[in-house]
Amino acid sequence: MKVLLIGSGGREHALAWKLAQSPLLTEFYATPGNPGIAEHAALVSLNVEDHEAVAAFCREKAIDFVVVGPEAPLVAGLADRLRAYGLKVFGPSAAAAQLEGSKGFTKDICARYNIPTGAYQRFNNAPKAKAYIREQGAPIVVKADGLAAGKGVTVAMTVEEALAAVDDCFEGAFGAAGAEVVVEAYLDGEEASFFCLCDGRNALPLATVQDHKRVGEGDTGVNTGGMGAYSPAPVMTAEMIERTMKEIIEPTIRGMAESGYPFSGVFFAGLMITAKGPELIEYNVRFGDPECQVLMMRLKSDLLPLLLAAAEGTLDKVMAEWSDDPALTVVMASKGYPGSYEKNTPIVSLPEAGDGAKVFHAGTSLKGGELVATGGRVLNVTATGRTVGEAQNRAYALVDKVEWENGFCRRDIGWRAIEREKA
Ligand code: AMP
Ligand code: GLY
Repeated sequence: MKVLLIGSGGREHALAWKLAQSPLLTEFYATPGNPGIAEHAALVSLNVEDHEAVAAFCREKAIDFVVVGPEAPLVAGLADRLRAYGLKVFGPSAAAAQLEGSKGFTKDICARYNIPTGAYQRFNNAPKAKAYIREQGAPIVVKADGLAAGKGVTVAMTVEEALAAVDDCFEGAFGAAGAEVVVEAYLDGEEASFFCLCDGRNALPLATVQDHKRVGEGDTGVNTGGMGAYSPAPVMTAEMIERTMKEIIEPTIRGMAESGYPFSGVFFAGLMITAKGPELIEYNVRFGDPECQVLMMRLKSDLLPLLLAAAEGTLDKVMAEWSDDPALTVVMASKGYPGSYEKNTPIVSLPEAGDGAKVFHAGTSLKGGELVATGGRVLNVTATGRTVGEAQNRAYALVDKVEWENGFCRRDIGWRAIEREKA
C-alpha cells in the first residue's frame, strides 16, 4: 500500500515510525515532514493548502491512502477534496471537523444529545456575554469559538478576568476565531484525554493519556501545546472508560451521523473527571501532539489497518492491542517557548535510544547537513517502563544526553501518576 502522511510535527514522526513498521506498506511519502520523518518516508514538498496540488501528487504516485496529522487541513476541507478524487483518507470531512473548529458547534451537539459538559451560552457580542458572566459569577470559562492554536481559552477565577477575556475576543485578539464567544461553567476535577477511532458508525477505543499543558513545573505558568504526556491516565479506570464511551463518545457518533456529518478519523476527547464522572471539555479531530507519541509507543498492533478501517467503515472488524507498560514523553522546547525564541540553534547530538525508547523530532530541520531547532517544541524524548516512574527515569536519562544548548524541558513530567504509584 502506498501512503502519504501530511504534517511535520512530533505527532507525525510518531505516526511515521509506527506506519513504517507495517508489512502492508510498500511506498511511503510525507509532506512537509521533518528530519525524523525522513528516516521512514520520502519527503515531498507540497503546498498542503493547495488541495489540487496534493490530489495531483496522489494521482501521479498512485497513492492508496492519505493520513492527515494536523487539524488545520481537515478544517480547511482537504479530506473532502481528496475523497472526491476517490482517495482513501484518514481524517474527518470539514463539516465533521467542526467538532474541533467550532466550540459552539460541539456544545450544541452536547446539548442536543445530553452529553455531560459544562453549562454554556454562545454570544456574538460583548454586552450580552458580560451580562451572562455577571449573572453566573466566577470561576467561569471564556472561549473563542474557532481555532486559536490553543490560546483562545481563559479559565477565569474572577469576574473581572472573564470580562477582560470577552473584550480580548471581540477586539480581535484571536482574529476570526473570536468573532463568537462561548461562556461555560468551570469544571473542577482531574483532566484526561481519551482517544477513539471512528468510522462514521463504529468506535474503537484506543487508550487514555494525561498531558502537561503548562510551561512550568508543578503545572504552573502559561499554557502551551503540551510539555509532556504519559499513557495510560490512572484517573481513567475501566468504569470511567465505559462511562465515557456510553455517555460521551457513542452519543457524539450518533449525533454527528444524524446531523449529516458522520465522523471518520480519531476523536480526541478532552475530559474533566469531576465528582459526577466524565464531562467533556472539548473535542479534537486528530491525534494529540505529544499525546500521539506515547500512544504509538504502547500500541502493539499494526497501525495501518486500524487507520484504514476508520477510513473504510470497518472498525467493527479490527482490534487494537496495547502494551500494559506505561509510556512517557518529555517535550524539549527552545528557550523562550511559548513566547519568542531563537531559531536555527544547533542540536549537536542526539542519544541512541534503545528498545522501548525513542527521540521523536518535532521542530527540527537540516541546515547545511547540520541538525537545528526551528520550532518552539523541538524534540519529544519518549520511553516506556514497568511504571510511570521507571518510564520517567529512562526518558530523563536520555534527555540528559541530548546536546542542545538552547533547549529546556520540565523535569516533573508524570508527577501526578508517580505520586499515585508511591502512595
Ligand atoms: P481547551 O482548549 O478547550 O482544551 O481548553 C484548554 C484548557 O482550559 C483545558 O485543558 C482545561 O485545562 C481548561 N478548561 C477548558 N474548559 C474548562 C472548563 N469548563 N472548566 C475548567 N477548565 C477548563
Ligand atoms: N497536546 C494538545 C493537543 O494536541 O491539542
